[in-house]
Amino acid sequence: MKELEISYKIKVYEHLKEMNEQDAELLQVAGVATELSYSPYSNYKVGCAIRMEDGSMVKGANQENASYPVCICAEGVALANASANFPGKAIEAMAITIRTPKGDSHAPVAPCGLCRQNILEHQNRQSSPIKIILRGEQGEIYEVASIKDLLPLNFSGDDLPQSGS
Ligand code: THU
Repeated sequence: MKELEISYKIKVYEHLKEMNEQDAELLQVAGVATELSYSPYSNYKVGCAIRMEDGSMVKGANQENASYPVCICAEGVALANASANFPGKAIEAMAITIRTPKGDSHAPVAPCGLCRQNILEHQNRQSSPIKIILRGEQGEIYEVASIKDLLPLNFSGDDLPQSGS
């Protein structure tokens, strides 16, 4: 018997000004994207901003539906937007944040399992990792170097017998 240990590092920033300018801007754009949220059922506004390899930015926000399973997460909206508008371009970084009615959420928001799987698929389509930046409405900012860190032992196209493009 042996044990495998899986570990990864999260960079934690106390303030926006500690980050590099491009990433700080991306997080601010994610904050603006919360205003695009359609979330009358949860009142939980999630904003996402993606930076492409050429520096272009793409926004996404959660879009809810009275039939709850139809809801689309902010990350999914932004990812679909990125591949539809920048085909063949790699995603460099993704920032996710929220807005709630009380405005007092301090914990960095983390993407749900489905979104992690979705981000992984996009990362695997390119040859570089996607940096993930997470923040609540206030407080610490987390930075993860690759979606694989948030989804250890992941399932991907490599596990399927004849996966192709
Ligand atoms: N939501 C996201 O947009 N991203 C996530 O990663 C988790 C959850 C949305 C879905 C729904 O509109 C609301 O947050 C509450 O679950």
